[in-house]
Amino acid sequence: MKVTVFGIGYVGLVQAAVLAGVGHDVVCVDIDAERVENLKKGIIPIYEPGLSALVKESADAGRLQFTTDAELGVKHGRIQFIAVGTPPDEDGSADLQYVLAVAKTIATYMVAPKIIVDKSTVPVGTADKVSDCVSAVLKERGFDLGFDVVSNPEFLKEGAAVADCQRPDRIVIGTDSPAVESKMRELYAPFNRNHEKLIVMDVRSAELTKYAANCMLATKISFMNEMANLAEKLGADIEKVRQGIGSDPRIGYHFIYPGCGYGGSCFPKDVQALVRTAEKVGYVPELLKSVEAVNSRQKEKLFTHIQAYFGGDLHGKKIALWGLSFKPNTDDMRDASSRVLMDSLWAAGAMVQAYDPEAMNEAQRIYGARSDLSLMGTKESALNAADALVVCTEWNAFKAPDFDLVKERLSHAVIFDGRNLYDPAMLEQQGIAYYGIGRGRSVLSFS
Ligand SMILES: NC(=O)c1ccc[n+]([C@@H]2O[C@H](COP(=O)([O-])OP(=O)(O)OC[C@H]3O[C@@H](n4cnc5c(N)ncnc54)[C@H](O)[C@@H]3O)[C@@H](O)[C@H]2O)c1
Repeated sequence: MKVTVFGIGYVGLVQAAVLAGVGHDVVCVDIDAERVENLKKGIIPIYEPGLSALVKESADAGRLQFTTDAELGVKHGRIQFIAVGTPPDEDGSADLQYVLAVAKTIATYMVAPKIIVDKSTVPVGTADKVSDCVSAVLKERGFDLGFDVVSNPEFLKEGAAVADCQRPDRIVIGTDSPAVESKMRELYAPFNRNHEKLIVMDVRSAELTKYAANCMLATKISFMNEMANLAEKLGADIEKVRQGIGSDPRIGYHFIYPGCGYGGSCFPKDVQALVRTAEKVGYVPELLKSVEAVNSRQKEKLFTHIQAYFGGDLHGKKIALWGLSFKPNTDDMRDASSRVLMDSLWAAGAMVQAYDPEAMNEAQRIYGARSDLSLMGTKESALNAADALVVCTEWNAFKAPDFDLVKERLSHAVIFDGRNLYDPAMLEQQGIAYYGIGRGRSVLSFS
């Protein structure tokens, strides 16, 4: 099928590459000319396992093209995906300007009926707005063309985005039109062979499903962080508690890891956006507001521990930081906990020596050259003469370090572990002070 994808970011590029990978003929449109030119040369703008090879294979076969030419893109696909960003605006609501700009573009150039698919995460009611926008432009042009607007939210996880798109748990389609459903079935048939994965519903329910999914996951994390903070005060070990509750199949082990807070481009903004949506319809979303508040507090946790350990004075301290991306297997640093920590450390006069397996270029792009940040080439060099090691991201590369080397290189043998990767008893035996999240001892009492 001929498909056009507007927005070549994490979602658009992965979706386009996966659709092209099964044989669809895909044109990707972006307003970022540099990104498009790089993609034409095979330079992938993001790190995502498996993506580079998949893009190359389909681009070489002529099934995946990149352009800034919106008119060409609109003419190409019967199906037009909107996969542009929906960042928070000033009050935390989803900013729809990019989505509506694409809707306008499609309406400006379409000369045949189109199925417009909202792939971006958008508040309930957005499909109606897209529809109104397209109708208004078509009317101005004096064209009477048929079009449909479908909600098809994306559930991929960064770090496993290609695999998630190739083998989705579910494909949610929001439409009331049997003809559109049938076209979407045809599009996704290659991903729907093992068992029925399409869940078809009305547009508004589909739009809400995406927010409900992300808010549920964020709630699980904030719940565990609340328990971890309690465990710390009560002298319990949250890792034992996690296993104790995860063993109940009604709870399960997924997504109940305590840590230094969730980040990324989705959970923080989607929780906020649903809070605003709720408030706009006169509902006070107490639980969601608390999920957000607990997470904001949790992102300060490591700094509070570090500050307490050093008796409140971090001026001139050098902190080794392992992990800059918001989670492993991505270079995405949007809303990452590492950023909140670094800002606090810098404000307190500390210096940061950081290492991340994939996010070094992104960190360079965000922070440029500053005297209180050294981006180091290896995790070992980040330790050199540092006063403490802090772990912010649970990359595999950090899970079993050489603790003798860690101890030798640090000037204070202390680890602040924001992801509970290490065994406190083992580190104690090695003579390394260890502070995790909710591991039964508060830093203050040990400083
Ligand atoms: N990143 C994720 O893990 C993820 C997962 C599920 C859903 N989502 C949702 O998908 C949407 C996209 O997220 P993302 O992370 O891929 O964003 P992104 O910022 O990585 O990419 C967005 C792209 O859209 C382009 N763009 C903006 N305006 C455009 C226009 N008028 N025409 C063409 N291109 C335009 C930008 O240049 C950019 O390349 C968001 O709504 C997000 O919430 C993201």
